[in-house]
Amino acid sequence: MSRTAVAILSTENLLHNLKMIKGQAPDAKVIAMVKANAYGHGLRSVSTRLQKHVDMLGVASIDEALVLRNIGIQIPIMLAEGVFEPNELLVASTQGFHVVFHEDAQLHWLANLSCPLPIQAWLKIDTGMGRLGVNLDGAADFYNQLSHSPQIAQPIRVMSHLACADEPDNPLNQQQIDAFNSFIQTIATKIPTEYSLCNSAGAFRFPNAHYHYIRPGIALYGASPLLGKPAAELGLKPVMTLQTSLIATKTLPKGSPIGYGARYTCLKDLPIGIIAFGYGDGYPRTMRDGAPMLVNNTLCHLVGRVSMDMTAVDLSACPTAKVGDPVILWGNNLPIEDVAQFTDHISYDLLTGVQNRVKFHWTRYPSPTTKEF
Ligand SMILES: Cc1ncc(COP(=O)(O)O)c(C=O)c1O
Repeated sequence: MSRTAVAILSTENLLHNLKMIKGQAPDAKVIAMVKANAYGHGLRSVSTRLQKHVDMLGVASIDEALVLRNIGIQIPIMLAEGVFEPNELLVASTQGFHVVFHEDAQLHWLANLSCPLPIQAWLKIDTGMGRLGVNLDGAADFYNQLSHSPQIAQPIRVMSHLACADEPDNPLNQQQIDAFNSFIQTIATKIPTEYSLCNSAGAFRFPNAHYHYIRPGIALYGASPLLGKPAAELGLKPVMTLQTSLIATKTLPKGSPIGYGARYTCLKDLPIGIIAFGYGDGYPRTMRDGAPMLVNNTLCHLVGRVSMDMTAVDLSACPTAKVGDPVILWGNNLPIEDVAQFTDHISYDLLTGVQNRVKFHWTRYPSPTTKEF
């Protein structure tokens, strides 16, 4: 029998989450962020399922965008980090990709090329994230330079990114919103265009900053975008349930060590199980003792250091568990945030860290009883 590690992915929950997000921002269009292999869920599978329901897809590079065009996805695709070299502008032009401009070098590349079609452009301004984006003092000039380029389709849209939206009380949020508003007022008189600022957290927390497009990522996948707020309280459901099975069970006598480095010592005679899942599958080696797992839907806990292919679980709560029984590592009935607390990771990097030797099984498109929206 082959490895039993499987990511079960729910189409129904993906579309449900989108509906919840749209409910928060009913007047905004949606750019669904599918970068990084759709946060580990599968770029093609997620995009295919979302394409009829969103206005645009957001990726991190032209390679990801081309994968989507090659499987026949026709809706607009945003290159959220722009192009990385001049020739990509030509590809973006012919493919109709939306290019984010955030850097002088990109303007120079543009000036020295002849694009077959005008490029759909976004100006990204840095309102406080300190990552990509033109500084505020140079943003109007940058916008003008883009506007005067015959290679750029009009109007040019404007975006920025929130640094602390997961902490709604952080004062930087309002400062960024204010900075964004002041910038768009400076250009609003010239030509009407469209704006985008909010990620998932912003979509849930800052209704006054939804503008024309929101850009949800993590919430689509059913993890909470807000610190300390369970996803379920926001109406979100996990898309990925990561599951494996027990490949061995035994009882270790009190005082026995478990795993590499003998990190854990049994405080009593301990029934343990070994699961076929380790850091080579994407379960971090830094996961601490006590991390939750569901064995036969019963809450059990990690004991000892995670190995490459295996991990030990304390079966005290489930002593009759046997080889072959299912073990859920996160997903249905086990929020990924609860698991992340036992490591230095967050839901984002746990999800994107699932390795490709894990089999991915998508549930079918929603049943006929599920209402489309
Ligand atoms: C520019 C941009 N917009 C939107 C998002 C989506 O953020 P989230 O997954 O927190 O919704 C990201 C993610 O990193 C991003 O870089």
